[in-house]
Amino acid sequence: MEGRDTTEKIATEPALDDGEDCDCNGEAVSKVEIGSYKAKVEMITDPAEEILLLWAFQQPTFSKPNAFVHHSSVDLHLDACGHRLSIFQTPSSMSMPGVTGAVMWDSGVVLGKFLEHAVDMGRLAFQCKKTVELGSGCGLVGCIAALLGAEVVLTDLHDRLKLLKKNVDTNLDAGKLRSSATVSELTWGDTVETELIQPSPDFILGSDVIYSEAAVSELVSTLTQLSGRETTIFLAGELRNDAVLEYFLDVAMEFFQIGHVDQTQWHPDYCSRRVAIFVLVKKTSNFKN
Ligand SMILES: C[S@@+](CC[C@H](N)C(=O)[O-])C[C@H]1O[C@@H](n2cnc3c(N)ncnc32)[C@H](O)[C@@H]1O
Repeated sequence: MEGRDTTEKIATEPALDDGEDCDCNGEAVSKVEIGSYKAKVEMITDPAEEILLLWAFQQPTFSKPNAFVHHSSVDLHLDACGHRLSIFQTPSSMSMPGVTGAVMWDSGVVLGKFLEHAVDMGRLAFQCKKTVELGSGCGLVGCIAALLGAEVVLTDLHDRLKLLKKNVDTNLDAGKLRSSATVSELTWGDTVETELIQPSPDFILGSDVIYSEAAVSELVSTLTQLSGRETTIFLAGELRNDAVLEYFLDVAMEFFQIGHVDQTQWHPDYCSRRVAIFVLVKKTSNFKN
């Protein structure tokens, strides 16, 4: 992601700490800290430009998909937070119309390892932090957040919860875990349960949840309902459909400030040209008082 230049200054909101960095050509780029993420990110001001830059610099179609996962196997093993995680998949359900989340995608591995790396680097702290994962699928990201100390609620559609619970039970020994992990049904666009928003989560996580134009407004509605003043959202998107991602950014920018997390801040062994990580905080104008 070299040569990106976001020179336009964003409107300063309380959660943001302005700063200026240089890109590889020594040119000034505007970067800020956003929410509780203690590293500077480039703010997105124009969704179309962001998509152009992502596809131009990362060239996702020229790199191998699913470098960190295998869709045909029934489980995936990954070392994270000093544990060897075993994530079960149900490849057979992939052929069922409308079913997703039965297997892992790279963006989940990238986001999970990014969170672990950010904690190791002192950029994030999850200890005792209320965290909600949306569209958890097989649950890797939520499991990693729990191992990092978060009090996690992993959520998905009703018919996805059996596999999700199996993976949580397999990987998080409730007796030994100092944090907590629970599985709950959450359909985007529905009114969210009171206990999810009182108090508001410290973090909302989602990997590969931006993949359908039809679901964008429901997803943004859920993000908006869940987000409080102290909430920081991390979303990892697969770069497979530029139109869907641009549409999401367009809709989400009405309610959220959105930063692009540079790959230099990711786990060095888990970078992918086919993935982008965004960090979002709700705009102060969207709070009632
Ligand atoms: C492509 S999968 C990603 C799963 C997982 N986060 C990962 O990275 O492997 C998208 C997930 O979003 C869930 N999902 C899709 N539409 C949803 C909706 N309207 N409400 C809640 N979850 C939804 C799916 O069931 C699925 O688990």
